[in-house]
Amino acid sequence: MVGRKVGIVGAGFVGATAAYSLAIKGTCHEVVLYDINTDVAIGKALDIGQSTSYSPSGTIVTAAKDASDLSGCDIVVITAGVPRRSEMTRADLLMINAKIMKDVVGNIMKYSPDAVILCVSNPLDIMNYVIHKMTGWDRNRIVGMAGALDGARMAYQINQKVGYGSGQTRAMLIGDHGQHMIPLPEISAVGGVPLDQLISKEDMEGIIDRTKNGGAEIVKHLGTSAYYAPGRAISVMVEAILDDSRIVMPSSVILDGEYGYKDISVGVPVVLGARGVHQIIELELDDALKEKFKISVDSIREGIDILTQNGFFE
Ligand code: LAC
Repeated sequence: MVGRKVGIVGAGFVGATAAYSLAIKGTCHEVVLYDINTDVAIGKALDIGQSTSYSPSGTIVTAAKDASDLSGCDIVVITAGVPRRSEMTRADLLMINAKIMKDVVGNIMKYSPDAVILCVSNPLDIMNYVIHKMTGWDRNRIVGMAGALDGARMAYQINQKVGYGSGQTRAMLIGDHGQHMIPLPEISAVGGVPLDQLISKEDMEGIIDRTKNGGAEIVKHLGTSAYYAPGRAISVMVEAILDDSRIVMPSSVILDGEYGYKDISVGVPVVLGARGVHQIIELELDDALKEKFKISVDSIREGIDILTQNGFFE
C-alpha cells in the first residue's frame, strides 16, 4: 500500500464520502482532501481519520493546506464545482464549472503530472472533456465517473423489483450522465440470468425511468445531490485503477473513432487498469440504439459548443 496516494479536490459531501469509503476499506496509503475552504478540508480529514480507529485500515487521511500538498498523487478525483441555482442559466453553470476545472487542472499538472484524473464534477461528460482539453494528456488518463453510479442505481431498482440478487446484479448503460443516458437491460443480468427472463417489459420501463431520474429523485427529497452512492462508486473505480484489476465499468471517456465519434467524452464500457482506461469496449448497437446514442452525444456536444461560443477554449 505504501506510496499509493489519492487526492480528492472538493471536500463537499461527495468528496468526503469518497474519502471515507477509501479510508474504511484501506484502499490506499494516503487520501489528501483539498478544498478552497481549507477549514472544511481540515475538519473532514480529522473526522474521517478518527472514524478509522474502529476499522483500522492503515489509510492516512490528510487535508491539503495548499495545492502543493497534492503532489505525487497516483489518482486525483475532481469533485469541485457549484450546483445549478435557480437564477443560473445552463450556460452560466457550464462556464463557472469549466473555469473551476481550469484552475484545478493547472494544479494537478503542476503537482501530480503522472496522475490519473477521475472526474466527478457536473455536467460530467462536458467537464471530463474540458479536463482532457486543458491537460492535453493521453485520453486514457482522464476518466469520468457516471456509469458506476448510474449502474448501481439501476442494479438497486432491479434488486428491489425481483427481491434478490444484491451484489450479483450488473447493469450496463451508455451515453451521457443526464437525461439522455441509455440503460441497457438487454445486456444486464442478475447472477448471469438475463433480465427479460425475470422482469416484465412494463416493469423494466419503470426501472429505466427511475434509473435515469435517480439523481433528481434524491435531490427532490434531500434538497441536495446524492453522495453515498457517488462516494462508493468513486472508491470502486479508484480501487480498480490502483489494483490494475481490469474490471469492466461504464465510464465517460474521450472517443477517438470508437462508436463512430471523435473529440467527445461520453459513457461507454471500458476496462479500468493502472493507467486509467486500459481499453474501450465497443458494443455492437442496433439502429435504434445508435440513434439514441447520437441524441446523447449531441446533447453533450451542445454543452461543449456553449463553452466554445463563450470563448472558453481560446
Ligand atoms: C447524481 C449526481 C451526483 O447523479 O451526478 O446524483
